[in-house]
Amino acid sequence: MRNVWLASIALALSAITASVPALTENITAPADIHLRMAHSLHSKSHYGTAANAFAETLKTCSKGKYRVITFPNNQLGSERNVIEGLQAGTIDLAIVSTSTIMDIIPEVGMFDIPFLMHDLTHARNVLDGPVGRNILAKFPSKGLVALAWGEQGFRHLTNNVKPVLTPEDAKGLRIRTPKNSIHIDGFRYIGIDPVPMTLTEAFDAIKKGEIDGQENSLAVILLTQLSQTQKYLSLSGHVYAPALILASEKLYKKLPKIDRTFFDKAGKAASTKMREFVDNVEKNGVEKLRECGIQVAEVDRADFATAMAPVYSEYYKKFDRKIIDAIPFQRNFE
Ligand code: PAF
Repeated sequence: MRNVWLASIALALSAITASVPALTENITAPADIHLRMAHSLHSKSHYGTAANAFAETLKTCSKGKYRVITFPNNQLGSERNVIEGLQAGTIDLAIVSTSTIMDIIPEVGMFDIPFLMHDLTHARNVLDGPVGRNILAKFPSKGLVALAWGEQGFRHLTNNVKPVLTPEDAKGLRIRTPKNSIHIDGFRYIGIDPVPMTLTEAFDAIKKGEIDGQENSLAVILLTQLSQTQKYLSLSGHVYAPALILASEKLYKKLPKIDRTFFDKAGKAASTKMREFVDNVEKNGVEKLRECGIQVAEVDRADFATAMAPVYSEYYKKFDRKIIDAIPFQRNFE
């Protein structure tokens, strides 16, 4: 009986959803157009804060014409599903990491090269300057519009085995990385055993002792309370991790010209909020993590950069060497 009842509800729901036109087809409606924005983290994270800033700015600029509903925590699927949704026009907006996008626009992966960026100011200048803008211009040919570069911050290493102060200490550690060949190549080079998986899978693998640790931005390490399962944090800052604020090209191309400027402004506002969030975490995050009991090691980033320098020959094969060499962090160590 219960099954019959459930089946009739499912049937009724599918009839309702089938009769709702795709959101992107409502673009000429005079007011209150609802748009769906997806991301993979909690609503209180840097992604969530940026999504709220986007929604507020778009609502204000458009005098209430657009209402953005945010879907945090992978509610609309993995980053890969979400990007496919943007391309198909079934999802309107998203905030995503570079690891997933680089499968579609490989040049994005260039910014994930270890020790390419000196500090946050340097990274932001590169992304907002001609190098970053040229890469954003590649998105429409893939069914996506990149409204702005967002930010996660520099990634640091956590583990359960020992304090890691030098590249030598890191040898043999099994470390979760995103499915990102640029990170994997760099880690392998210094003797870390990289284990690519999603962050959600990593929590479980850490608890079961299948991996020794992971690496992420301070914002993510704090947010996900990794201090409860990881003993050691090394402030390696080995990779600067940007993020991207994206719109479906199917949606964007139908927008009146003036409305496009509202979306562009909302993208910038989201990026600014994300960067402010990261600035705050940079000021207070390490102290908070210490208070939570994680043992923090300040490391000499130059040691790690030098150890990873030879892997640049691999990156030169993948990306335009002239561009990599125009982003001059590695030269600071020579
Ligand atoms: O480590 C990752 O996979 C990414 O940095 C994260 C935390 C999912 C945010 O995009």
